Amino acid sequence: MDCHIGSQLTETSPFIDAAGKVLALVDALAAEGIHLEHLDLGGGLGIRYNDETPPAIGDYIAAILAALRGRSEKLILEPGRVLVGNAGVLLTRVEYLKHGEEKNFAVVDAAMNDLMRPALYDAYHDILPVKREKHAMQRYEVVGPICETGDFIGHARDLQIAPQSLLAVLSAGAYGMSMSSNYNTRPRAAEVIVDGGVVHLVRERETLAQLYAGENLIS
Ligand SMILES: Cc1ncc(COP(=O)(O)O)c(C=O)c1O
Repeated sequence: MDCHIGSQLTETSPFIDAAGKVLALVDALAAEGIHLEHLDLGGGLGIRYNDETPPAIGDYIAAILAALRGRSEKLILEPGRVLVGNAGVLLTRVEYLKHGEEKNFAVVDAAMNDLMRPALYDAYHDILPVKREKHAMQRYEVVGPICETGDFIGHARDLQIAPQSLLAVLSAGAYGMSMSSNYNTRPRAAEVIVDGGVVHLVRERETLAQLYAGENLIS
């Protein structure tokens, strides 16, 4: 019996409620002579993007084990975001700054195709300069270069930056590359794993030629 009730949950109670419902179904099936051997409660445990306070992994496991006390089914969990979300950053360079009467814009070379979460559901990702630079602190709309009003990475961020500054968009390890696209003919970014002092290029940057490779001209 498997269930997955959603993602970015910051409390244990929904998992416990779901486990109770699933166990009731397992028992109902057992009464009909159908005996299931495993219980898969999916993923869902949340992470901290901004000020969320998700339960510690140990507390989450303890709550689930308490709900399953006395059961013989094998427990399977499928954590996703909590494993990799905060292990990844999206690096992006400031292309130019635009100062307006009401708002300042920092146009960066990453866009909604690289990190879809802000544009898709207004998700918050922290944005930090990679190096501390001595520029005036200003409040920016951090936006991508795609011609869509919704192409933004972060609203109202106080940053000390200039053109060419490198920014790290945090918590991009989960639902970053997996939700990325080639929208606006943008090849996908390279992926790099940093292991201590060792850097591994684990996914090459895409090329325009690769984007067109599957297309055929009609004659
Ligand atoms: C069946 C299933 N398991 C696990 C996950 C991972 O969820 P999370 O990244 O929230 O841990 C998902 C995500 O949608 C899912 O659909």
